[in-house]
Amino acid sequence: MISKDEIIKDLKVKLSKSRFEHTLSVAKKAIELGKKFSLDEETCELAGLLHDCAKGNEKYYEEKYSDEFNELLSRDENRQYENPFLKHCLLGMIVAKEKYKISDVEILNAIKEHTTGSLHMTDLAKVLYLADKTEDNRDYDGVDEIRKISMINMDQAIVLSLNNTIMYLIEKNRTIAPESIELRNFLLGGIGERD
Ligand SMILES: [Fe+2]
Ligand SMILES: [Fe+2]
Repeated sequence: MISKDEIIKDLKVKLSKSRFEHTLSVAKKAIELGKKFSLDEETCELAGLLHDCAKGNEKYYEEKYSDEFNELLSRDENRQYENPFLKHCLLGMIVAKEKYKISDVEILNAIKEHTTGSLHMTDLAKVLYLADKTEDNRDYDGVDEIRKISMINMDQAIVLSLNNTIMYLIEKNRTIAPESIELRNFLLGGIGERD
């Protein structure tokens, strides 16, 4: 693993200004949420810092790590990452591992799942998912409610956030990741199942 300061220094150069600011804000929020749920502070911060590490540079990283990316993408469970809006999640996981030398599988999976959620989310993945949706710069209808509930009950907050995202995707006539629907069903006590 390389040091946190080196990671921040590199991200500052690689990400756009607004993406870098979002990144720092997600890391801050992940620490805040993580504390509430007794998670390791450094782990939360690293997940926050690296969650969008591939965003905006998808083409470059797709070529650089093409073998690993294509192998993962060929698996049935990863088909959703062909979606251009989700590519950075799978690529982010690869870049965090290969470039930033993160070996903690929980961080890597949290990065992969940060946009869609999944049935297999750990508490760290939930923290990252919610930190991404509720960091201080986020401003959309309903964010205050999700922000407030996330500090009390992460599952409830995730349902609210999924509702929001799914409605937005329908409005834009975009596809909805099956993982998000499965997770929502599961959290509502419906038809989703854990292994
Ligand atoms: Fe993202
Ligand atoms: Fe993000």
